[in-house]
Amino acid sequence: MVVAAKAAEQDEGRDKGRRRFLHVLLGGGVFASLVSFVYPVLRYVLPPPSADLGTDSVLAATVAELKSNSARIFRFGSRPGLLIRTASGEYRAMSATCTHLSCTVQYRNDLQQVWCACHNGMYDLNGRNISGPPPRPLEAYEVHVKGNEIYVSRKQGA
Ligand code: FES
Repeated sequence: MVVAAKAAEQDEGRDKGRRRFLHVLLGGGVFASLVSFVYPVLRYVLPPPSADLGTDSVLAATVAELKSNSARIFRFGSRPGLLIRTASGEYRAMSATCTHLSCTVQYRNDLQQVWCACHNGMYDLNGRNISGPPPRPLEAYEVHVKGNEIYVSRKQGA
């Protein structure tokens, strides 16, 4: 009788242990499911931390690197920028990210305009959208030439 009671107690103890283990397992599964559902929603809703350009002024090129009626792409923080030397020798700088669907724009020296190859969007040399699907102008930057170096910075108060 005593042996049977001890065996029953041991069985009951094992059952409690199993139940506790199953609760932990089930709770962990529910928690993991919630995290896997909530995390992508939060990532979609919250703006990415790299939305900020991360810089206010960069060395975009040297004078010797940029002939008249040509351009170059430079890195402005986390985004590309476009530095243009016009046919008359003036410098213009703007964001190189198209305002339509964010393709990188380029300078067309044959047209002397800024062109987005993705959907044939066109901007003038001040970054104003003049044809095609782009809904807004490109962000314009300031250009400062110091000796042989060309610096580009965000417009003050922008
Ligand atoms: S992404 Fe530039 S025109 Fe569509």
